[in-house]
Amino acid sequence: MIQLSKSGLPMQMDEESGRIILGEGLAMEGYAGKAAGKMAGLLADETDLEMVGEEPFYDVYRGIAYPEDRELLKKHDYRYDITVIMPGQINGECKKTSGHYHGWTPARTNTYAEVYEVIKGTALCILQKSTNFDTNDPSGLVVDDVILVTVPEGRTLLVPPNYGHCSVNIGEGPLVFSNLAYVPCPLHYDPVKYYHGMGWYAYRTPEGISLKENSRYPHLPLPRYAAVKENPELGVTWGCPLYESFRKRPEAFAFLGDPDAYVQTIMDSLEFGGEFIRGENV
Ligand SMILES: [Fe+2]
Repeated sequence: MIQLSKSGLPMQMDEESGRIILGEGLAMEGYAGKAAGKMAGLLADETDLEMVGEEPFYDVYRGIAYPEDRELLKKHDYRYDITVIMPGQINGECKKTSGHYHGWTPARTNTYAEVYEVIKGTALCILQKSTNFDTNDPSGLVVDDVILVTVPEGRTLLVPPNYGHCSVNIGEGPLVFSNLAYVPCPLHYDPVKYYHGMGWYAYRTPEGISLKENSRYPHLPLPRYAAVKENPELGVTWGCPLYESFRKRPEAFAFLGDPDAYVQTIMDSLEFGGEFIRGENV
């Protein structure tokens, strides 16, 4: 058992199975496990996928909180979840979440933002901007920008409005991350599924992680590579876990439900670099 101390919460994980055990006082609202077979249609190469169909892929623990914090979370319409992506690959491709686009705010000015905090392992977050993700014909999807962000343990990513996103486990052990999400935000999975995933795939090779473009997209801009920066104004301070940051200063997360005034400052929390940042634990 290892302590997930970066979360600031009493949580442990069985490293072998990736299962999380909540400590004294913490409770969750729901759990869903996804096996490899359920990723059909989202992977680069699904040859012999049925042979490993039952293999655990990722688990989501929804609505984790102390009972005394439920009212505060509900008041703001936020939910704190934990996702565990297992280590390993399918035909060389690193395990990942399904990926989705967030829906529009009622004024349709921007889509909703999100916050991801890496608690254990290293994540590659694939962000791709699109404003026509919700049309009936995904074959005409226009991707305006692709950002590949490496998020090491103890670091937090503000997912910008208007960017679809997917998290990839590029470390050697389980990847554990938390998210603070705006509950009314609609999620769109179909435009990702239509293309068998996001614009890029990550592979583990003997030399390390390598990236490959998804050729099912007819036009993809060249990816930009980025690392994450602190953004105290929006509740992101290194060393202060996300849950604690929300509890101390819930108003800092107002951008989750009302992103319009924060698009630039969210983008400014990305540090753009020239090449793929492989992370500290890779
Ligand atoms: Fe999301």
